[in-house]
Amino acid sequence: MKAVRFHEYGDPDVLRHEDVEQPVPGAGEVRIRVAATSFNSVDGNIRGGFMRGPIPVVLPHTPGIDVAGTVDALGEGVDGIAVGDDVVGFLPMDGTGAAAEYVLAPAEVLTSAPKSVPLADAAALPLVGLTAYQALFDHGKLTAGQRVLINGAGGAVGGYAVQLAKNAGAHVIATAGPRSSEAVRSAGADEVVDHTTTSVTAVVTEPVDVALNLAPVDPAELAALVTLVRSGGVVVSTTVWMPAPSDEERDVRGIDLFVRSDADQLARLVALTDRGELRVDVAERVPLAELSTLHARAAQGAVHGKVIVVPSVA
Ligand SMILES: NC(=O)c1ccc[n+]([C@@H]2O[C@H](COP(=O)([O-])OP(=O)(O)OC[C@H]3O[C@@H](n4cnc5c(N)ncnc54)[C@H](OP(=O)(O)O)[C@@H]3O)[C@@H](O)[C@H]2O)c1
Repeated sequence: MKAVRFHEYGDPDVLRHEDVEQPVPGAGEVRIRVAATSFNSVDGNIRGGFMRGPIPVVLPHTPGIDVAGTVDALGEGVDGIAVGDDVVGFLPMDGTGAAAEYVLAPAEVLTSAPKSVPLADAAALPLVGLTAYQALFDHGKLTAGQRVLINGAGGAVGGYAVQLAKNAGAHVIATAGPRSSEAVRSAGADEVVDHTTTSVTAVVTEPVDVALNLAPVDPAELAALVTLVRSGGVVVSTTVWMPAPSDEERDVRGIDLFVRSDADQLARLVALTDRGELRVDVAERVPLAELSTLHARAAQGAVHGKVIVVPSVA
């Protein structure tokens, strides 16, 4: 089968589209015929060798943390999943990924794919959808009637965060540049602040319960977000290379989020999708053989929105 792998860390051209053995599922695993994986920005950092501590992959490594596809073979002891099922999942980040025609997955990370979107498009959901969900609800404890600020709502995580927060009954204030503002508004934001012209700290006058930072702002801008949060509230940040700000005197906690795979939560996102309450947006569909070019474009900042990567299985 075809897979994309890198044999050494480095620039995007270390990614090779090559022939590898089709994997055989072990106990507790299933083999999936991949409809798509997706590109996540962490993929570039893993490929570049910058994540060797937290995400120790074995070389040669196949990237691709998200998977959507069809179960094609079962290992021993797998219950509740059958050959032919369409599934979606967030694969172990240090394991062999889904930038391939087939991938193995532990059965427990998988859930049924949404029926209301094309199977390949469902690969746009797991990692970024779970990041948004866990930021808002596991860490932010967001509830109906609360106010949430989503800084960096114009990106892939932000699109889901705005929708999920609005769906939960929160008042959503979002920052977005001109290229993203319409999408963020249509995702349900009540107020949209253009971060290219306006400082969010200048326009948010009533405190928020939860501030979510998804943007690569400078540390001073990140620190300023804490001043917008009410006493006892929380700042959750996904840009973990800068610590989330906190204010002990006012009991505002700062939380650095590290997303984790969770099939039950993913099933909730799938259910919301199938009820028409969560839109899965796909900005681009890129052939597997062009993954190296996609990484190069991402490194130049030339990728906007969620990109899925599609193998051409015969
Ligand atoms: N820690 C974790 O577990 C975890 C998990 C997932 C993602 N992440 C990280 O979380 C961040 C968001 O992920 P993503 O996939 O949504 O990234 P993304 O698609 O690149 O979106 C980031 C967005 O931030 C906006 N932005 C840029 N500069 C800004 C500024 N100064 N103020 C406000 N917004 C600004 C841009 O939107 P505009 O179009 O509005 O300019 C951009 O689309 C990334 O840094 C990613 O690496 C971390």
